[in-house]
Amino acid sequence: MQLGQGWPVWDWPVRVIHWYFPLAIGFMWWSGETGNLELHRWCGYSLLAAALTRLVWGFVGSYHAQFKHFLRGPAAVLAYLRGVPYQGVGHNPLGGWSTLALLLLVFVQGSTGLFSADDITFEAPLAYWVGEHAGTFTEIHELNWGILRTLIFIHIGAIAFYHFVKHQPLVAAMWRGKAEGKVSDKPPRSALWAVIIFLVFVGLLLALHNFAPQAPAYY
Ligand code: HEM
Ligand code: HEM
Repeated sequence: MQLGQGWPVWDWPVRVIHWYFPLAIGFMWWSGETGNLELHRWCGYSLLAAALTRLVWGFVGSYHAQFKHFLRGPAAVLAYLRGVPYQGVGHNPLGGWSTLALLLLVFVQGSTGLFSADDITFEAPLAYWVGEHAGTFTEIHELNWGILRTLIFIHIGAIAFYHFVKHQPLVAAMWRGKAEGKVSDKPPRSALWAVIIFLVFVGLLLALHNFAPQAPAYY
């Protein structure tokens, strides 16, 4: 630690996973809407593994990445909404819950995708397994996308508000890990653990992709 500066609030895994989201979700939007479903599938696996890694990191990761350190009770959220400024380090009481909501919505999006099909040529790895219910999963996949997309727009709007109106360097902090005046006094956990967790999820998804039962081929 450099004396007088402190540790990053956002560790490497939180930041890398975070900036992968806009990149990959933008691609998923394009590939989903245009029917490039083979590309959609592979990017979707990586996004699902990233969201799952961040969810697990919320239990075993660095101090400020852990849910128990930023999910606050209704009194704290209401006080924040009434205008009581948040003086702590890390997500404010409202940002904490929106973090969980965004992560769960990305998880639901990716996991329902695994059961989806486009009724023509494309079947996700678990679509055959759920048979006629694949249609229901595909509908949830589309419905959840509407909710996720709305929350992403609200998220970006809120960040723009903090940036331009309240002059808080949130984007710089999410990019560099810490910003002026906001540092952590807790050392981060080794990012290697997050890499291992990510690789375990990638391995599980590849196993599903390769070994889940598929419809017999007719020649
Ligand atoms: C697909 C788009 C996006 C998704 C799904 C997303 C999701 C999230 C999530 C889950 C967090 C919590 C971080 C964590 O603890 O893991 C977060 C925080 C944050 N995001 Fe995004 N994000 C998106 C796009 C963006 C964009 C485009 C920007 C910048 C313009 C941005 C700026 C931020 C900032 C500054 C924070 C930190 C907020 C705080 O200090 O509490 N996000 N985002
Ligand atoms: C978090 C990751 C994901 C995002 C953001 C996402 C997003 C989308 C979007 C925006 C669409 C177009 C929906 C529409 O037409 O209204 C779509 C369609 C689709 N997605 Fe995903 N998706 C994700 C993961 C996956 C995965 C992992 C799979 C399968 C391996 C998958 C399979 C499909 C299929 C089969 C469709 C076409 C459904 C149809 O034709 O009606 N998705 N997805």
